[in-house]
Parts: sequence; structure tokens; C-alpha cells
Amino acid sequence: MTSSTTTSAIESDIDLFSTEALHDPVPSYRTLRDLGPVVHMTEHDLYGLFRYDQVRAALVDWEGFSSAQGIAMNPTANEMSDGSLLSMDPPRHRAVRKVLDDALRPKYVRQVAGNIEHLADELVDDLMRRETFDGVTDFAAKLPVDIVMDLIGFPRDEQRDKILVWALGAFNYFGPPGERQLSTFPDVQALMQYLVTDATPDKLLPDSFGQIVWQAADRGEITENEALMTMSAYACAGLDTTIAGVASTLWLLAQNPDEWTAIRQDPKLVPGAFLEGVRLETPIQHFSRVTTEDKEIEGVTIPEGARVLVSYAAANRDERHYPEPDRFRADRNPADTVGFGFGVHNCPGRTLASMEAHALFGALAKRASTIELTGEPIRTPNNITRGLDTLPVRIS
Ligand code: HEM
Repeated sequence: MTSSTTTSAIESDIDLFSTEALHDPVPSYRTLRDLGPVVHMTEHDLYGLFRYDQVRAALVDWEGFSSAQGIAMNPTANEMSDGSLLSMDPPRHRAVRKVLDDALRPKYVRQVAGNIEHLADELVDDLMRRETFDGVTDFAAKLPVDIVMDLIGFPRDEQRDKILVWALGAFNYFGPPGERQLSTFPDVQALMQYLVTDATPDKLLPDSFGQIVWQAADRGEITENEALMTMSAYACAGLDTTIAGVASTLWLLAQNPDEWTAIRQDPKLVPGAFLEGVRLETPIQHFSRVTTEDKEIEGVTIPEGARVLVSYAAANRDERHYPEPDRFRADRNPADTVGFGFGVHNCPGRTLASMEAHALFGALAKRASTIELTGEPIRTPNNITRGLDTLPVRIS
């Protein structure tokens, strides 16, 4: 609730979704953090949270900052995501989330860990022979495509290759109204069509996450629509995010050779180095929530019913929380990064994604003494995700 001493949020016309800002968002994040604890972004009528403490507090306060009206930044995407656990509050969220947690629990995921490490070793052996390669398609995308798609249970047909592109389109579609958002509607349609006609329970691979989801629907624990939307969440949240996180970490390591040397000397630093990559580049930059009452944050009011952009990416570079926030430090180990979210919607795939990354960078640390860029990386701007299309590298 508000008190008589509250003020309105400071306004800013910074457009975080312009092509320029999507290519280089860090200066805007700094400006927005410094403006105040809450900023009203007039371009898209969004209230924004950019500081670490405020972002984390809002993610914990699911009653005040609700996901139930969707977490995208336009009404059509929010209507379409009805039934997705990303767009639910407890208690319904708890029931659907339990199905996912059952599938993604560390004990179950660890059963495939040996496989993941073996594939990572083979992959890096091959890359050592080649020396130059693309850090995105040849390194970061391999395990999500070869292992995670099997875990989710997507049939091994030619449609599979298109899931990554459709999922990136779906993330773009989550942005504020505009050309970049509208142009990707065909990808959203294609993904939903695929889930309805190709990734059906009879075609999903046996013993997969997908089967677990549909069995829960058969038992009546979740609805058919919730099962379908959970499959959509797997496709969107589980693949491009990990690829972006691994490719970005590789990019940062290539730019910080001393940190790579430190990791090679002490491979126990590998998990923390991946967290540094997720912190600095934040594969999912922001989602949004809606306030269920007037909220006061450090004397500034956000009115009831406002759409609030919660920026994991800006929070992850907040100097109020992380000293020298823009520096990659292999020994920082930022386990409290909000790059995997926080609170009831925190990422259930964190263990799986980390396992893939640790296997890849662990295998690399055993073999490659140097990682160098051989050209400029290419990035297609996306409203929600931050990743790379190509990353030309050489290892020796
Ligand atoms: C580096 C890799 C990853 C990153 C950075 C990431 C990031 C996130 C973030 C920020 C959220 C919070 C959403 C919110 O606050 O509303 C989230 C939720 C989620 N993630 Fe991940 N994720 C990753 C990997 C994965 C993987 C591998 C899977 C599954 C195979 C997955 C499945 C999900 C699902 C289903 C949710 C929704 C949870 C809920 O609403 O309760 N993610 N992820």
C-alpha cells in the first residue's frame, strides 16, 4: 500500500527494445538503475525494476507482482500463453510445477550425466582436431540438440531442426508491440502446430519429460491445455537459453585469457565461470509481472494493475550488489545471480543446463590452453533473449 510520502516513478524515454539497445544494452541498464528504484518507461508504458534488490524482492512477492496475466509485454502473447506455468500464480502454479519438478529433479537428470560428460569429451576431442570452429553451432548447441531434445522427447524427424528457430521467434513475440514482435507470429503458430500435430503423446520418445507431462494430464492432475503449454515452455525455455549461456561464456573466456588460465589451473572454477557467463550476458534478459495493488518501493509508487518489467539482466550488473559488475571474474561464483529467475518461478532446468555447461567447459579445460576469437561474433537482436548466432573461435 502507498503512504502519503510516496512519489511517482521517474520517467524515461529509453527504449530497451530498439535495435541499438538490444545490441548493446549495458549503458541503458546503468542509466536506468541510476535513475531510481523504479522507472516508468514511457515508450511502452512499462514500469521497470533494474536494481538487484528490487528485482529479487519482486520475484519473491508473487502475490503483489503476479504472473497470472502473463509475463510477456503485449496483450496478444499474454492471452495465448494462458495455461502456461510461466503465466500462473500459486496455488495452480504449484500443481503444474510439480509435474515439471518430477521430470527435472536432479536425481533423474543425473542419470544422464555420464552420457552428457561422455558426449562433451568426444565433442571437444573433435574440436581440438579441427582447431577452428563455430562456438555456437559446433560447441554450445550440440548437447541441447543431441541430448535435451531427446530428454524432452521430441520425435527424431526433420521438424526437430526447426524448433530452435521457432522458439527464438516465440521469445521475440513476448516483447512489446512492434515490428520485431509482430513479424515472428508465424514462428509461434508453427511451434504450436508442431506441438499439436507432431509432438503428440503417441509420437514422443518413451520415458521422456513429455511423456511425464501427458501422463499427468491423463491422471487429471493438469489439463490438456496445461500439458500442451508445458511442452511449449520446454521447447522455448530449455534449448536456446542453454545455447546462449554456453556460447556467451565461451565468448567471455576468449576475451579474458587470464581467467581461462586460472580455470585450467583449477578446474573447480568451471561451475562459477558458467554462472559468471549467465550473470554477465543473462540469456533471458527480462520478463514482466502485473501489480495486484499499489506497490511502494523505496518511497516510489507503482499503481495497481501496472505492467512491470523485471530485468534480470540489469540486476545482474548492479554495482550495488556485485563489485566491478562488468568484469568477468572466474573466482566470483555468483550463485545468487537472478539469471535463472528467483522465487516460485525460478528455473527448474538450472541443474540440467549447468550439467551441460560444466561438462563442456570441463572437457575444454582439460584440453585447450588457449581460446581465441578469429572474427567478430554475429548477433540477431531478440526482444527477450541474448545470445549469439555465430562465434568464430580457435582453440589450441
Ligand atoms: C542457461 C540456461 C537457462 C536460463 C538462463 C534459464 C532462465 C530462466 C528464467 C530467468 C526463468 C524464470 C522465469 C520467470 O521468472 O517467470 C526460467 C524459468 C523456466 N525455465 Fe529456465 N533457463 C535455462 C534453462 C532451462 C532448461 C534447460 C529448461 C528445461 C529443460 C528450462 C525450463 C524452464 C521452465 C519450464 C521455466 C518456467 C518455470 C515456472 O514458471 O515455474 N530452463 N528459466
